[in-house]
Amino acid sequence: MTTHKVAVIPGDGIGPEVLAEGVKVLNAVADLDGGFRFDFTHFPWGCKYYLEHGRMMAEDGIEQLKAFDAIFLGAVGYPGVPDHISLWDLLLVIRKQFDQYVNLRPVKLLKGAPCPLKDVAREDIDMLFVRENSEGEYAGSGSWLYKGQPHEVVIQNGVFSRHGCERVIRYAYELAREQKKTLTSISKGNALNYSMVFWDQIFAEVGKEYPDVKTYSYLVDAASMFMVKDPGRFEIVVTSNLFGDILTDLGAAISGGMGLAAGANLNPERRFPSMFEPIHGSAPDIAGQGKANPLAAVWSASQMLEFFGHKEWADRLIRIIEEMLVAKTALTPDLGGTAKTFQVGDQVVRRLLLTMGKITDTI
Ligand code: NAD
Ligand code: IPM
Ligand code: MN
Repeated sequence: MTTHKVAVIPGDGIGPEVLAEGVKVLNAVADLDGGFRFDFTHFPWGCKYYLEHGRMMAEDGIEQLKAFDAIFLGAVGYPGVPDHISLWDLLLVIRKQFDQYVNLRPVKLLKGAPCPLKDVAREDIDMLFVRENSEGEYAGSGSWLYKGQPHEVVIQNGVFSRHGCERVIRYAYELAREQKKTLTSISKGNALNYSMVFWDQIFAEVGKEYPDVKTYSYLVDAASMFMVKDPGRFEIVVTSNLFGDILTDLGAAISGGMGLAAGANLNPERRFPSMFEPIHGSAPDIAGQGKANPLAAVWSASQMLEFFGHKEWADRLIRIIEEMLVAKTALTPDLGGTAKTFQVGDQVVRRLLLTMGKITDTI
């Protein structure tokens, strides 16, 4: 029997609430399959831990995490700890130390999911974002000179290396080739006259190796407009770290909301564990009320299953999420329902059992 060793970092706010459901669903999948199991280890890291220990994770946290096949993360950040500390010392340090340079974020409007766009066919919202996840605007390079003085100066550098751009762009071309989809690069070469000119150049260079892949290039401002007005233009999309961050929240808004948006931080070479997480934050406004939608966490669990080679289970989970959106019997308030977070997780499990013929009663 294969064992997948997974580090669970529930984190802050609604993180623990949604992750409990993700873990519940993964255990149910493994039980039904019978050929593999999960060995989950929980880590209590996050803002509460920071307030007690003065750090976001154990000092040797990265070393501890190396022993795992994957990381399942809820959300990080809570009022009381400055966001740039909580995020840099937990989420971002993991992405960087484990060289998770691909952030895969599906933007797909499932049947039954609400969409605020008019005159857009459901099938037209079906994209996969490949967000650069290791450098760019998030390189963390800069300085704060003369801090607190009237002439203080801050500098935040964008770092775009040939190695960093090439590898993520090549990953996106490979995906587009494999899936026979178009590939769109989103950048901003008109204003960012070094970084984005370089990005565009590398996109064109790598593209020579993929004459079979049809490509498009948009400026990020126009791309935002097209995502709303004509989302059918986008299939596989590759973009920089910050643009990918912003555009995928826009993507969430057009495909059912933050409660459905999932992401996978991949180290494609598998030298280090990859990390799976809903893309939403800790939602302090609804934390502790049982209102959080766990379906984004379930969707990221599906990405984890696919990463571990269990594609049928990954697809089955997405079909179940879609069935639930259509049935509307167990949805949280963000999707117009009255169900509690745990009831949504329970319903996913019931539907798994039903699909596999383990129960026969109605949902
Ligand atoms: P957020 O994603 O936490 O919340 C934005 C809005 O979406 C809120 O109204 C919230 O209630 C709603 N929402 C989010 N997830 C939901 C869910 N699963 N179900 C129902 N509603 C949901 O973004 P924010 O308010 O900008 O950030 C809050 C904190 O989270 C900050 O500290 C921020 O830095 C952090 N953050 C962390 C991550 C992460 O860990 N990956 C991502 C984004 C923000
Ligand atoms: C995300 C988040 C993070 C990011 C923050 C919390 C640092 O918004 O995963 O989208 O910007 O990458
Ligand atoms: Mn974000």
